[in-house]
Amino acid sequence: MFFVKCLDNLKKRDDIKQIIDIPYAKRAYLKKNNLSSLKNILLVTPIFILIFSITGLILNKGLKFYSSRTDNQIDINDDLSILGHLPYKETPAEKLVFIEPNIWVHEDMSDSLLKMRRDAKKDGVYLVFLSGFRSIELQEKIFYSLKSIRNQNAIERAKVSAPPGYSEHSTGFAIDFGDANYRETDFEVSFENTDAFKWLQKNAAKYHFKLSFNQNYKVVDYEPWHWRYEGSIQALKIFEESNRKLLNKD
Ligand code: DAL
Ligand code: ZN
Repeated sequence: MFFVKCLDNLKKRDDIKQIIDIPYAKRAYLKKNNLSSLKNILLVTPIFILIFSITGLILNKGLKFYSSRTDNQIDINDDLSILGHLPYKETPAEKLVFIEPNIWVHEDMSDSLLKMRRDAKKDGVYLVFLSGFRSIELQEKIFYSLKSIRNQNAIERAKVSAPPGYSEHSTGFAIDFGDANYRETDFEVSFENTDAFKWLQKNAAKYHFKLSFNQNYKVVDYEPWHWRYEGSIQALKIFEESNRKLLNKD
């Protein structure tokens, strides 16, 4: 009987041990696992930091290489411009208004342009419209034919004429002025000495016109006769990129 009771007690102790041991063993196992994960993290993190740092250095070096050009080159190359001219879409015919033979302009600018001419006349200044809207097809003829006739390469030609698809004239918002009393200055820098130019310099902003290629323009030659209209949201949007450019700073 005593022997049976002892066996019973031993069995109970084993059961109790099992109940206590199993959770304890599980906890020990989990702790070990956590420790090894921590070790792994501590080992791997510096490797990742090293990889990220090296990648950062390489990228930074690459960017510096690209930006080691002059300011002017960065301006020209970080967009879609060609030889210093930004791209412009051709304004559809239905948006153009006839002003006089050979002169069509964007409907948004016609009233302001005509008012400016009337007001200049009141001041004794006679503005002549030399060129308004030009289709991309016409710009192509101007660019390539004159380039060929004058034996100029594309860079030389682009200083005085935009490549097709890159002229402000194709927007209908650009206009070339002459002075009726000094026609010999048409499309010449000497136009800046005329009454017309002096009047424009003083008054054009009132009518929302701005000189496109001033003396600070770094790539295209100075064109005192070429003005653009910025008196509508559409026109402002079209010339936004140009106005943002360093190379078009006043
Ligand atoms: N003469 C200017 C640059 C043009 O052709 O648009
Ligand atoms: Zn022009």
